[in-house]
Amino acid sequence: MQSSYALVSEEFKAVNALITEQLTSHVGLVEDISQYLVTSGGKRIRPLITLLTAGALGNAGNYQQIQLAAAIEFLHTATLLHDDVVDMSALRRGQPTANANWGNASSVLVGDFVYSKAFELMVAIGSLPVMDVLSNATTKIAEGEVKQLMAIGDLNLTQAEYFDVIRNKTAVLFAGGCRCGAIIANTDKATENSLSLYGLHLGQAFQIFDDYLDYEGNTEDLGKNVGDDLAEGKLTLPLIEALRITTNTKENTVLRQIIEEKDVSRIQEVIALCNETGALNNTRSLALAEADTAKRAIADLPHSSHRDALQGIADLAVHRKQ
Ligand code: IPE
Ligand code: IPE
Ligand code: MG
Ligand code: MG
Repeated sequence: MQSSYALVSEEFKAVNALITEQLTSHVGLVEDISQYLVTSGGKRIRPLITLLTAGALGNAGNYQQIQLAAAIEFLHTATLLHDDVVDMSALRRGQPTANANWGNASSVLVGDFVYSKAFELMVAIGSLPVMDVLSNATTKIAEGEVKQLMAIGDLNLTQAEYFDVIRNKTAVLFAGGCRCGAIIANTDKATENSLSLYGLHLGQAFQIFDDYLDYEGNTEDLGKNVGDDLAEGKLTLPLIEALRITTNTKENTVLRQIIEEKDVSRIQEVIALCNETGALNNTRSLALAEADTAKRAIADLPHSSHRDALQGIADLAVHRKQ
């Protein structure tokens, strides 16, 4: 990942400066939480792929691209502030979450502030097509999160329903960043669509692997509490696969009971079952397949180190610990 950042390091400095500049407020609490967000060390993968997209199209230094990358990171940050409240998560990026530090109400309200900042930046970009893509993505993220909430505890959730949730809550923002990078670069529609498709499948790979790491990862590397999904009764691909594979067996009954009781104290049993049944392997394979589809979507783009970096990020998304 480090070499990918290096390709757009100048642009990234400008994005980071803009993020810091924008997240200031005369309201003390907004300022405190914003400071915490800026310094908490997220991976910033969404601005990275946005800038690399612009670079692959020869347009990375354009200031609109910088504003776009910052706006995308703000949309992501705002959803995380809200997501950690909804998921009752206590740890993110190796630190107590904003809701753990300042409470749910403050997190929700500052999340709204960060959303608004994203929209101010979008207005500053001054492109209606960009506004269209990003406002639509924001709607989809909210719908995805609500659909997921409605599906809590639904033991019959299908793989198709799961894909629908992750496409909306995660992948459309990746796709939107890439599509808008292409729009600002004034590229042709076919190239714009290829980059959007890349973003969509990368986002799906990224979320599936995140859901894999919630069982197979470790809290220290991840900076988030492993087992949060089970504790919440959220069915993600590992559990959907394990339930499907064990249909009509004793294991299935045990698994259902653990999920219904949200009994995170039995997470090791669940992990063992997901390993024995191949559910975790299948999850990983599906993430790898999505990453491959992402890479193929931009294979016909003119060769450049930026395009190679985008393809490399697809591999890293499914070979990471953090
Ligand atoms: C976390 O995203 C939310 C998911 C879509 C899985 P990241 O893993 O990109 O979060 P940060 O910004 O690096 O902390
Ligand atoms: C991603 O889902 C959240 C959003 C896209 C808003 P998760 O709930 O799995 O993300 P983490 O694990 O909390 O980062
Ligand atoms: Mg969460
Ligand atoms: Mg997660």
